[in-house]
Amino acid sequence: MKQETSSDWVARSLKSVWHPCTQMQHHEQVPLIAVSRAQGPWLYDHQGRRYLDGISSWWVNLFGHANPRINAALKDQLDKLEHAMLAGFTHEPVVELSEQLAALTGHALGHAFYASDGASAVEIALKMSFHYWRNSGRADKQEFVCLQGSYHGETVGALAVTDVALFKDAYGPLLRASHVVASPDARGATEGETEQDVARRAIQEVEQLFEERGNKIAAIIVEPLVQCATGMAMHSPLYLKLLRELCDKHQVHLILDEIAVGCGRTGTFFACEQAAIWPDFVCLSKGISGGYLPLSLVLTTGQVYQGFYSQDVTRGFLHSHSYTGNALACRAALATLQIFREDDVLARNRDRAAKLAQALAPLAGHERTRHFRQRGMILAFDAIEPDPERAATFSRRFFSSAVENELLLRPIGRTVYLMPPYVLNDDEIEGLAARTIRVFESVIAG
Ligand SMILES: Cc1ncc(COP(=O)(O)O)c(C=O)c1O
Repeated sequence: MKQETSSDWVARSLKSVWHPCTQMQHHEQVPLIAVSRAQGPWLYDHQGRRYLDGISSWWVNLFGHANPRINAALKDQLDKLEHAMLAGFTHEPVVELSEQLAALTGHALGHAFYASDGASAVEIALKMSFHYWRNSGRADKQEFVCLQGSYHGETVGALAVTDVALFKDAYGPLLRASHVVASPDARGATEGETEQDVARRAIQEVEQLFEERGNKIAAIIVEPLVQCATGMAMHSPLYLKLLRELCDKHQVHLILDEIAVGCGRTGTFFACEQAAIWPDFVCLSKGISGGYLPLSLVLTTGQVYQGFYSQDVTRGFLHSHSYTGNALACRAALATLQIFREDDVLARNRDRAAKLAQALAPLAGHERTRHFRQRGMILAFDAIEPDPERAATFSRRFFSSAVENELLLRPIGRTVYLMPPYVLNDDEIEGLAARTIRVFESVIAG
C-alpha cells in the first residue's frame, strides 16, 4: 500500500477541505501542516517533524495531547455509552459533570444546559436571558450590550455581540444591532492611570447606558479578565465587580463568556473568581473537555431556572442540539476535572506561569515590543512594526518562521501570545521561550 506523505495530505486537504478562519489563497505562501499524531505539548507531522503547541490548539488543550488519563476514561466510556439523546433521558457523565460544575461555583450557578461549540453556548445564554425576561412579564427587555473588541463566536447571534470588524463586517446586514461600550483594556491607560482607573472610566459608559436604557436591556456579555480574540486585551477584576453592581441595580443580566478564559486559564478555575462575583450566566467550552471533544455549556442560577419552570410548555426553554450532553464529551470533562483535583493544577500553573514570564523577560524589555502582559497562563506582547506593509504581514511571517523553529504560534495582528497547555516541564518552558524569542528576532529583522 502506498504510504501517504505530508505533502500528499496537504495537497488533498487543499483540494477538499475548506479550512476555518483562513483566506485559502494564503496557503499558496503559508504552509499547511498535516498532523499525523500528537503527544503531550507536541504535534508531529508525517515526516516526524514536531511543533510545540504554544496555543493549545486554539486554546482547547489543557493537559497535553494523548493524555493517558483522559484516554483511559474515554476508552472506558466508549464501551458503556457513547451517546444518548438528552430529552427524556439522562446519564451518569452528564449528571456528575453538572453536579461538579455547580459545586465549583459554590452552587451559585446550579443548572447546566449543554451544547457542543462555544458559539452555541453564547446563543443559549442570549436566548435564555431574553426568554427569562419575557416569562417574567418584561418582554420589553430585548437589547444586548457587548464590549469594544469583544469576540463571542461566529454564529449569527454570537456575531451580533462580537465587535471584531474582520469577522463581522461582511455579515452586518444579517445581524441584530447591539450596544457596544468601551473596553476596559488596560493598554488604554493614559499617563499616570492604573488599570483600575481604566476600569472605572469604562464602567461609566455602562452606567450611563443602563441609566438611559436599562429597562430595555436584557443582558451585557463580557469575556472576563482577557478579551482574547481581539488580541489578548487584559483588564482589572475591578471592572467585573463594578459591572455586577450595576447589573444588580438596573436588573440587567450579566453573561460571562469564559469559553477561552475559564478552566484555570487566568489562574483561578473561573476568571470571575478573581473579582469575587458570580454572573447570571457563565458560558464554558474549549478546555472543559480537555481539548478532546466538542462540548459547551451554560451554567445559570436557580432564579433563571425557576423563571422557565411551569405547566406551560411555551414557557420552557425549548432549545436543543442533537449532541446535547454527549456522554463521551462529558466523560472527557470529568477526567479533566479529576486532573485539576489530583494534580493541584492551579498551584502548579502559578509556578509555570512565573517561569515562562521570566524566560520571556528579554521580550518584555525589547525595544520593538510594548505592553508585555500576563494573566495566569496567557502571556502576550505587541510587536512594533513601523512599516505598514510589513505590519500587515507580520502574523503570517511569524507563523511561518515559528513552524520552521518547531513551534506553533499564531499572532493576532501584531499581538504575539502564548497560551500553552498546563503540562510544560522546565525544559519545555525554556524551549518555548527560546524559540519565541528567536522567531521574533528573525521576523523583525526581516
Ligand atoms: C471568548 C470566546 N467566546 C466564544 C468563542 C466561540 O467558540 P467556538 O469557536 O467553539 O464556537 C470563542 C472562540 O475562540 C471565544 O474565544
